[in-house]
Amino acid sequence: MRVQVAIIGAGPSGLLLGQLLHLAGVDAVIIESKSPEYVLGRIRAGVLEQGTVDLLDRVGVAARLHAEGLVHGGIELSFGGTRHRIDLEALTGGKNVTVYGQTEVTRDLMAARQASDATTIYEADEVCVLGFDSATPSVQYVKDGVRHELACDFIAGCDGFHGVCRQSIPASAISTHERVYPFGWLGVLSETEPVSDELIYARHARGFALCSMRSRTRSRYYIQCGLEEKVEAWSDSAFWDELRGRLDPVAAETLITGPSIEKSIAPLRSFVTEPMRFGSLFLAGDAAHIVPPTGAKGLNLAASDVYYLSSALIEFYTTRNPAALDAYSARSLRRVWMAERFSWWMTSLMHRFPQGGSFGEKMQEAELEYLLGSQAASTALAENYVGLPY
Ligand code: FAD
Ligand code: PHB
Repeated sequence: MRVQVAIIGAGPSGLLLGQLLHLAGVDAVIIESKSPEYVLGRIRAGVLEQGTVDLLDRVGVAARLHAEGLVHGGIELSFGGTRHRIDLEALTGGKNVTVYGQTEVTRDLMAARQASDATTIYEADEVCVLGFDSATPSVQYVKDGVRHELACDFIAGCDGFHGVCRQSIPASAISTHERVYPFGWLGVLSETEPVSDELIYARHARGFALCSMRSRTRSRYYIQCGLEEKVEAWSDSAFWDELRGRLDPVAAETLITGPSIEKSIAPLRSFVTEPMRFGSLFLAGDAAHIVPPTGAKGLNLAASDVYYLSSALIEFYTTRNPAALDAYSARSLRRVWMAERFSWWMTSLMHRFPQGGSFGEKMQEAELEYLLGSQAASTALAENYVGLPY
């Protein structure tokens, strides 16, 4: 079998790339190691930048997003027992974000792909990417016990941080830049009304907390936790008590609790691979970079990578000019590093650092005071949060 582009991974980056290429008449097959149900079972991001919404609109999968997504024109920062609103819309000339879960984005993209004649192979085992430094790249995989080989022009590595694509590139051909934070986030999803109409990012002596949501009746909450902590050790009531203890008195009083429908721990990490290309293998999304979730940038960066990569591939198939493909890595990385900076900054500002000492805490307090007192500083937060232009 032969195809123009082999896409590895059916997460948001692989599925969105597949849809953009399909609509442009570029032939692509998606190969995913898990089942669709497994992919949809992962609870991850919740905040979409306007650029991500625009892309989903462009590929015709945003009807439910517009009907059910919640448009947010501000966020709240909580510290010292009080909440302070950052008016994203006023500070950015009318820009906002949309709260709509990654699970729903993925579900909408899967439905669109299923409605087209494009091929997706789920539950593919032993996926190998081969020959991407030669004129004959290919992908091998085993499906239902039978080995298959897919010849292609290009391979798009959309297989996440633990995927096979980045790991197949010779270590001498790429550099990686990493910061591992000494904490994680314990997240809970519950069928309860959100504590506030907007997201609350809370800095507290006991650690960071975030109040987010998926809809008007479904909440997503996170608390900073130690890396050694086990999710099984956290009962629902222990989680709610800890969350309540980190919120301002008004939020603590109004918080509605209920049984968790999902509970998981994610470590926080910043990570970038440079370049994002090796021969005919192109990396996109978490396969190339990770941000700590504090700035809500992971999924949005995956979308901007895919925008650049799809435009470059479409230009190549239209004109046979490889210039845009050659520029892909540098173009994506410029935006990636901006989002890395913002996510690192927001993480550093809002979390309790075990080794930070009193000087570190004073720096956070001074930075927060400056942020609220200075329109320039709050504008910098707002324009990064709503998303820098493509
Ligand atoms: P992924 O979503 O990881 O998709 C990659 C796909 O490739 C997966 O379906 C995987 O099964 C598949 N795959 C892996 N290996 C192979 C292989 N060998 N062969 C074939 N397929 C393979 N971002 C936020 O903005 N906010 C958040 O709250 C947030 N929470 C997160 C929590 C966790 C635990 C994680 C891991 C990430 C979180 N993120 C969050 C980041 C955001 O979810 C990611 O940036 C986004 O999922 C990236 O999409 P992707 O398609 O690039 O990668
Ligand atoms: C989420 O809703 O899961 C979420 C929202 C904002 C973030 C991180 C996660 O910064």
